[in-house]
Amino acid sequence: MSFFGKQQSTSSKSKAAIAARQVPWVEKYRPESLDDVSSQEHAVSVLRRSLTSSNLPHMLFYGPPGTGKTSTVLALARELYGPELIKSRVLELNASDERGIAIVREKVKNFARIAVSNPSAAAKKQYPCPPYKLIILDEADSMTQDAQSALRRTMETYSRITRFCLICNYVTRIIDPLASRCSKFRFKSLDSESAVTRLNSICEAEGMRCEDGVVNAVLVAADGDLRKAITLLQSAAKLHGTVSPLKSADADQMDIDSSVVTVSSIDEISGRVPPEVIKELVNACVHGTGAGFERLQQAVQDVVLDGWTASQLVVQLHDELVFSDDLTASQKNKIVAAVSETDKHLLDGANEHLSLLDLMSSVSRALVPAL
Ligand SMILES: Nc1ncnc2c1ncn2[C@@H]1O[C@H](COP(=O)(O)OP(=O)(O)O)[C@@H](O)[C@H]1O
Ligand SMILES: [Mg+2]
Repeated sequence: MSFFGKQQSTSSKSKAAIAARQVPWVEKYRPESLDDVSSQEHAVSVLRRSLTSSNLPHMLFYGPPGTGKTSTVLALARELYGPELIKSRVLELNASDERGIAIVREKVKNFARIAVSNPSAAAKKQYPCPPYKLIILDEADSMTQDAQSALRRTMETYSRITRFCLICNYVTRIIDPLASRCSKFRFKSLDSESAVTRLNSICEAEGMRCEDGVVNAVLVAADGDLRKAITLLQSAAKLHGTVSPLKSADADQMDIDSSVVTVSSIDEISGRVPPEVIKELVNACVHGTGAGFERLQQAVQDVVLDGWTASQLVVQLHDELVFSDDLTASQKNKIVAAVSETDKHLLDGANEHLSLLDLMSSVSRALVPAL
């Protein structure tokens, strides 16, 4: 009997450990409070001020992906209402899932209609608990202009008892009448020092073993997007089995695998093209004069057959050429024009092979003007 009992408890323990392992790290390491948000001092300090005055305006958070917009508004909500009230006071809508204004309006109406419950005395002592609800509309820039215009009316109707926080990547896609009703908060890409600190602490917390330069490689591949960086770390950890998630739950299962995450595996997972491949393409451009066009053609065919995606190649070619010290401003101008043209074609769904060949011919003409 006791044997079965014991077995059951072990299995539920490892189930819990497995569940913990399956939590995406971006959720696990989301900043808990405003103080945990790195690098966005300006936004955080203004928000803190409105926390103390308890008079929150409508807000518009904008900036590149993975810079802490969603995390910040969630932390703000937690500090405003505390854990007890947060469920009844905060409505999170993802505008790209629920695009139609009819749905947004219906949800907002239903949510706003329910009177705000009174906080308990204990909660009131600890948190500001202002008498309005907070509606978070994530990815608001994916709403159509019509939906945004309609939202304006909804915001006004319920403004006595609700505050909105619109979140988007591109502030220019939010119509003026809506943007002008909100205090704007710009979120900037994390500076590399803050990002490195954050990633290192995750590696440490997870007990990951990494060779030197892994965190830097992750940062380069993620290009300022901390969500991408954290996800990449988690994939690498999974691939190498370097994490010891059962550390606390099941000590004897530690160290099953002692492999170390390497820089090259980060490059591999992130789909980053190795520098040699980029160099070869550039070389083919330089030598692509006359009969050399065949070399160019061959080089493009090789990268396409190797399965490198054109959009990734374009980004890395851009960096390689535009940050090079060996090219003149006029050469770089021509290259940037060609790169952005190709980028647009690829977004529109053009053939990858042809687009790439076209780009390489243009680069060739920029590098060797006699062509
Ligand atoms: N400024 C930041 N400070 C701390 N962590 C951050 C920050 N920005 C992003 N992160 C991390 O990246 C993940 C995604 O952040 P999120 O707030 O969802 O970004 P956004 O909404 O701007 O796309 C979070 O789980 C968090 O771990
Ligand atoms: Mg977000």
